[in-house]
Amino acid sequence: MSELIWAEEALRKVIEKERAVVKRNYDKLPYTAVNHVFDDKSKDNVCWWTNGFYGGMLWQLYRETGDDEFMKAAERVEEKLDANFLDYNGMDHDSGFKWLLTAVANYRFTGNDKSKNRALLAAANLAGRYNSKGKFIRAWNDWGDGRDTRGWAIIDCMMNLPLLYWATETMDDPRFSQIAENHANTAMDSFIRKDGSSRHIVEFGLNGEGFIREHGGQGYAEGTAWTRGQTWAIYGFVMSYIHTKNEAYLKTAMRVADFFVEHIPESGLIPVDFMQPEEPAYEDSTAAAIAACGLLHLAEEVQGAADRLKYQTAGIKLLKTLTNERCDFDPQHDDLLINCTAAYHDKEHHFPIIYGDYFYIEAMLYLLGRGEYLW
Ligand code: GLY
Repeated sequence: MSELIWAEEALRKVIEKERAVVKRNYDKLPYTAVNHVFDDKSKDNVCWWTNGFYGGMLWQLYRETGDDEFMKAAERVEEKLDANFLDYNGMDHDSGFKWLLTAVANYRFTGNDKSKNRALLAAANLAGRYNSKGKFIRAWNDWGDGRDTRGWAIIDCMMNLPLLYWATETMDDPRFSQIAENHANTAMDSFIRKDGSSRHIVEFGLNGEGFIREHGGQGYAEGTAWTRGQTWAIYGFVMSYIHTKNEAYLKTAMRVADFFVEHIPESGLIPVDFMQPEEPAYEDSTAAAIAACGLLHLAEEVQGAADRLKYQTAGIKLLKTLTNERCDFDPQHDDLLINCTAAYHDKEHHFPIIYGDYFYIEAMLYLLGRGEYLW
């Protein structure tokens, strides 16, 4: 399609860049880049929740180019994650982020039995975090700061559920997807507000008492709309719909997407929180990239032409803005997406984060009718 020439051109630049990046970065688990050089979480936190994203990027690039160097580096990322399995506290609800993009991808593309084994171990551990009376998956482990997180679930977990759907599909054993669906149902009821926005953290009673309260998380404050959280909700509910065909998940994704689309600023640049003060104008490019993935997938799933156009148009606007204003295509620089922010109240803002790069590439490939659905 001639109107997507800009996207083809951007992807060409991404591939040229990433060919140079992987040569310098075989054997790393990057989270951010300092002076345009990737750091390496295998040195200080091999269990960090983002450690699968570089592997996912490499699989996407391998499938696009057939270049073995990408595959070898992706396999190395997966092997490095094995250390997680020996650290009980290093295993939390983010197993989906870590192993869907690495071991599950490898198993899907190569049939590697070791990868299947890793992914099943991760899925079983994730299932073990389920609170059967509260019908939610516990998010984090103890942080050592005195806060009791046993009843905490977070909206981000919607993105980890596909690991459970995959386990059920692979083992023909419904236990995993039963847990995923119960969690998704709880999230629908307890995270999504009347206006369509999503809470970040909800605390539940440990013995089936239900919703206790919401907590402020990575956004501006309790009761506000952390943008990345909104995108986890949009894309996460679309994913649950894709795996289950439960229309309620699709409708929920649409409600959050409508809230998100209504709040996209004219500039197309996404703030860290839709309810943050005007100044400082903190932004988060990762939220834009994840939203683009969610909105483009949602556009494919909805029935009405007007809704399809609305979500497609918004997704393309976000990607065009990132491409023109927030991508560093320099092959000498390891980082791709700039102006990412992990959390509103962190000391640091506007730096590269690896999942921004992953979701930008995934979205661009999807927009062009290519790429792999690794979820
Ligand atoms: N899952 C944590 C985050 O989005 O920062």
